[in-house]
Amino acid sequence: MTIKSATIYDVAKYAKTSTATVSRVLSNSGYSVSEELKQRVLEAAKKLKYTPNLVGRQLKTKEITDIAVIIPNISNPFYPSIVLGVEDVAREKGYNVLLCDSFRNPKLESEYLRSMLQKQVKGVIISSISQNNKTLIKLVESGLNIVAFDQDVTFPCNKITFDYKKGGFLAVEHLIKLGHRKIAFVGAPLNRPSRKSLYAGYLKALKKYGISLNEEFVLLNELEKEIHNEIYEYKNGIELAKRLMQLKEKPTAIFAINDLTAIGVIQGLKTYGVKVPQDISVVGFDNIFISEMVEPPLTTIEQPKYEMGRLAANLLIESLSNKKNKNLEISLKPTLIIRKSTHEL
Ligand code: RIB
Repeated sequence: MTIKSATIYDVAKYAKTSTATVSRVLSNSGYSVSEELKQRVLEAAKKLKYTPNLVGRQLKTKEITDIAVIIPNISNPFYPSIVLGVEDVAREKGYNVLLCDSFRNPKLESEYLRSMLQKQVKGVIISSISQNNKTLIKLVESGLNIVAFDQDVTFPCNKITFDYKKGGFLAVEHLIKLGHRKIAFVGAPLNRPSRKSLYAGYLKALKKYGISLNEEFVLLNELEKEIHNEIYEYKNGIELAKRLMQLKEKPTAIFAINDLTAIGVIQGLKTYGVKVPQDISVVGFDNIFISEMVEPPLTTIEQPKYEMGRLAANLLIESLSNKKNKNLEISLKPTLIIRKSTHEL
């Protein structure tokens, strides 16, 4: 048997008044209602366990204060740290945050975007994994406010960008300065702007120090599996470490495209009895909070994640009231964090 929940009409009937009065009392709208009538409505709502339909009310009064964040996958702690920054600013400024995982699936990303526009959210902060940005462009043209972060997009809009190329360069230069010349680059497919730039940074450092590229040392998993309950990057790191161990000539150092992959690499190397950093040095990217907790603590490149989230939220919210702010870019810089996973050759 289904129990029908009470409607505003039931409350009005029970309190012997109109639905407009019920709505005024329950929304604290400030309209004057006699104390006796107010109590009657409150008692009726309590008795009938009536919950006002907030969505309906928001739509009527145009008081929608939601913003959305779309990220590839919350299983990588890089993204939650950014979301915390967004949420802090949003709360300070009176906005709610809706969180959407695209699960690294461009189709799902487009569906979320459309649904956010339909829900009339005020704006979307997005790390887009789509390779052509078609849906995003269309929706921005039809009025969706966005801030792109993490992945650069192919059209002008508000953005928080990060110098991935310099980050990749700094990571590899650190290894070279420790005496390494056989340096592997491992990760997921180069289908995101951030990853392409990291690879460009790797190549730039090799070139600057006169090291020729050994293509066998560039290992990228061709497939980016859409795994909902597993940590893809971590598993990928384990697999790529195993592949590196099959090579005749082994690298003495490995640069992984992110910390989760690097942690997987270290785990994978352990199964071959390879010690980090004594036998092979490993550098990650992102400086996620776990990277200082693992053994050995990971040398990595810091991305100011929480700050990135705060900046993105501020930029979005400011652009809502100042329509001229449609094409601003804030660019963040990487820093090298040296811990114990790298060692002199
Ligand atoms: O771990 C997330 C990192 O990998 C970010 O730097 C992002 O760009 C992704 O590709």
